[in-house]
Amino acid sequence: MVQNTPIDRNIVGEQILLSNLPDLGRASIREIVRLVNKIEQLTGEKFIRMEMGVPGLEPPEIGIEAEIAALHKGVASKYPMIEGVPELKRETMRFAKLFLNIDVKEEVCIPCVGSMQGAMAAFMVANRSDRNKLGTLFIDPGFPVQKQQCRVLGHEFESFDVYDYRGDKLGPKLESYLSTGKISTLLYSNPNNPSWISFTEDELRTIGTLANKYDVIVIEDLAYFGMDFRKDYSQPGQEPYQPTVARYCDHWLLLISSSKAFSFAGERVGMVVISEKLYSRVYPDLKRYYTSDQFGYSMIYGALYALSSGVCHSAQYGLAAMLKAANDGEFNFVENVKEYGRRASVLKKIFLSNGFKIVYDTDIDEPIADGFYFTISYPGLTGSELLEDLLYYGISAISLEICGSTRKEGLRACVAQVHPTLYPILEERLNKFHKDFPK
Ligand SMILES: Cc1ncc(COP(=O)(O)O)c(C=O)c1O
Repeated sequence: MVQNTPIDRNIVGEQILLSNLPDLGRASIREIVRLVNKIEQLTGEKFIRMEMGVPGLEPPEIGIEAEIAALHKGVASKYPMIEGVPELKRETMRFAKLFLNIDVKEEVCIPCVGSMQGAMAAFMVANRSDRNKLGTLFIDPGFPVQKQQCRVLGHEFESFDVYDYRGDKLGPKLESYLSTGKISTLLYSNPNNPSWISFTEDELRTIGTLANKYDVIVIEDLAYFGMDFRKDYSQPGQEPYQPTVARYCDHWLLLISSSKAFSFAGERVGMVVISEKLYSRVYPDLKRYYTSDQFGYSMIYGALYALSSGVCHSAQYGLAAMLKAANDGEFNFVENVKEYGRRASVLKKIFLSNGFKIVYDTDIDEPIADGFYFTISYPGLTGSELLEDLLYYGISAISLEICGSTRKEGLRACVAQVHPTLYPILEERLNKFHKDFPK
């Protein structure tokens, strides 16, 4: 066993034991965060923190100023309407047209307390729309908390790792689940957390076509809107547009987060955009839970009312101002976050030159984009072992296993908190790791 690790071996070992986490490969993101905080505190050493997807950039001034102005106008004392402030609804409608090239009415654009809450509300309504269906099919790997949401709601779910089912293989695999008639909703993120793969237009068409065929509602999680930097999705009203399943099916619900693309995670504000067909559709079985059988009405006056009775008033104005500036071509929100792509490109090279491999490495025949996350493995180590071993070298990540991946050897690394000034430290630590674990 290597004794002189960059972080005191005894302290790391002791804290792992004290954490009561029997297998680090199964620990949640927040549990790893807590463990690393404790080790940092006891050793006084800073980790290269790659476990949590926290934006590492400053929030845009436009958003901050608009929030302050709204607060000065006195919104803090007023309950916001659950359906959202008109400014935000209007700018979201414009955003959908200008950056996704889809036409929606303001009515179907609804704010949520982060897209986390959007997903929760979506499950609460969509998974209850048909008494004969059971719940959600997750196209994994995915964001673990969404499965936790299904669990706390008592909804069943299924999932499969898309690693072996890209391209032409996706259709038959999806159909094997959807044809059971038990799936209410299908959820995936694109670009994907944790693997950073992005579906091709053909794959999105396949998802949409099958959703129509089996009357399934697609929840498309666009938490990383515009952040596949291989294409420039930043110009309002100009191709290329952010890819979306909305072009290929009738019943969809888009989750548009402000957390990463707009570095606004702390304000907990996002948007749900619902297809007009789904919004107005009547599902008699909704009456079991809501006063209305109409989907959109149940989302707003059923689910979102019960969850938080609307979204922080000032945060809605902050997001509205950023969307307006993006829509008007005055604020290039994508350019603002391209820094993540630059970081990923350097960080991947540092890992690769020290014996690591990228686990999810291609979108069918194209290398994946450089972005917010990438996935790593090290020959001969399982994900749990790698996660634990890296802690002694002052590097933290999460396992792919908790994201529903079958690639149990893999970890997810988030680039957001790794400022370029930390590159030499990472390099030094990984050099040592590579020497200590020769492969
Ligand atoms: C795929 C995915 N969905 C949703 C979220 C949560 O977004 P929000 O902060 O808007 O609730 C995240 C955050 O990491 C995410 O990665």
